[in-house]
Amino acid sequence: MNTSALKIFIGTYGCQMNERDSEMIAAQLQQIGHAIVDREEAADVVILNTCSVRRQSEIKALGKSSHLAKRKRNDPNFRIGIVGCMAESLGAEIFRLNPAIDFVIGPRRLHELPAILSDDGRRMLTGESNAESVQHDFNRRLGKSKCTAFLSIMSGCNMRCSYCIVPRTRGREVYRPMADIIGEAEFLAANGTKEITLLGQIVNNYGGRSATGNGGTSPFVSLLEKLNEIDGIERIRYLSPHPAYFTDDLIMAHKNLEKLCPSVHLPIQSGSNRVLRDMGRAYGREDVLRIVEKLRANVDGIGISTDIIVGYVGETDDEFRETLSLFDDAGFNMAFVFKYSPRPGTRSAEMCDSVSEAEKDSRNAVLLLRVAEASGRYNHRYVGKTVSVLVEGHAKRGGHIMCGRTGTHVKVLFPASAGDIGKILPVRIVGSAMAVLYGAVCE
Ligand code: SAH
Ligand code: SF4
Ligand code: F3S
Repeated sequence: MNTSALKIFIGTYGCQMNERDSEMIAAQLQQIGHAIVDREEAADVVILNTCSVRRQSEIKALGKSSHLAKRKRNDPNFRIGIVGCMAESLGAEIFRLNPAIDFVIGPRRLHELPAILSDDGRRMLTGESNAESVQHDFNRRLGKSKCTAFLSIMSGCNMRCSYCIVPRTRGREVYRPMADIIGEAEFLAANGTKEITLLGQIVNNYGGRSATGNGGTSPFVSLLEKLNEIDGIERIRYLSPHPAYFTDDLIMAHKNLEKLCPSVHLPIQSGSNRVLRDMGRAYGREDVLRIVEKLRANVDGIGISTDIIVGYVGETDDEFRETLSLFDDAGFNMAFVFKYSPRPGTRSAEMCDSVSEAEKDSRNAVLLLRVAEASGRYNHRYVGKTVSVLVEGHAKRGGHIMCGRTGTHVKVLFPASAGDIGKILPVRIVGSAMAVLYGAVCE
């Protein structure tokens, strides 16, 4: 049994859920007296919070862990833990791949990390926790206060998209009670947070029902309405909505709720109805077009971005061209593009990964160019305009250059002081590039 205070470094891979989980792990470990350090060289324990969504995501974390194993040869007290989605999907295989690993903990068992740390032996915790409520208590804990914060409203995913490993790593949907979420948002607001981003794999299926067609208010929109009332919260965002659950009341919420940002990240995956059907996505390209048209009709200048997979099983040239045309016709201003990666245990992994790597590379390059052009065009429209920017922190280039975002989620760089962090300021845009705007704060 080891109860001494430890210096712990947490490395995070993957999506915003992992970022949020890492914040929670950090808060939890600090609460019991451990220190979180920002350099892995200074740590007694390195925890890698990993992702399995593509093979490449796993390779990154496995590469890092074998690098860390070298240090362990000289320092046997040094410990390495793999947590998160890859811990769940590979399980004990991780110990075989890298015998230097001390513990493996899946996303639904992270609240058990303190107990594992006080134990010296090799440990593995995966699968469901027997205490579901613990997960919710765990969710309520808070990391250090920041002007923007992720707020997890549900975990898991009940969809079974053919290519996706997430339902296997994060399990069935569990919704946090609304009162818990409101409580956390109020707590965040009282601690200086101005912008919250609600997180869920299908965030708009919060509560498990959709109000499609009956004109009612979906649980997700009810939640947005309540969050919109909280003093101190100025901006609300959410990630990721699923097109099949993008109800009219959500579209109208963008018009009616002043704090809900004019920005939607709507993953489409493909523009081919044949591919979408095979993926099990439960919508077609016409649905995507209908949603974006309605959003644009109700919210002036709304930014709409997406995720796209290229080279899915059996994707033909023509089907890829349909993706290009849907990207253009929907007028997305940004997209994350992924080359299809077969994931063990998924339905599509049993089919032949028929598109060659060279073809995936070439489709990826064609689409990325299209995305760059669209982003450049969209961003250029801001030049000469004044926009509200939440000042989030220092830009990477340092000095007096600060970094923030427009309501539409475009990054803006401008001279300002550290005292402006957390303020929403009017910024006049003087220049634009593919991924960023340049501006000056209006006097
Ligand atoms: N729940 C979200 C997506 C979560 S995974 C949704 O349904 O929209 C994030 C993104 O990773 C997906 O949108 C998809 O574009 C990509 N992705 C997931 N599995 C993948 C795979 N096997 N190969 C390539 N990209 C994948
Ligand atoms: Fe994966 Fe589909 Fe669930 Fe998104 S909706 S997490 S892509 S299974
Ligand atoms: Fe996120 Fe990767 Fe898991 S995308 S949910 S960390 S598999």
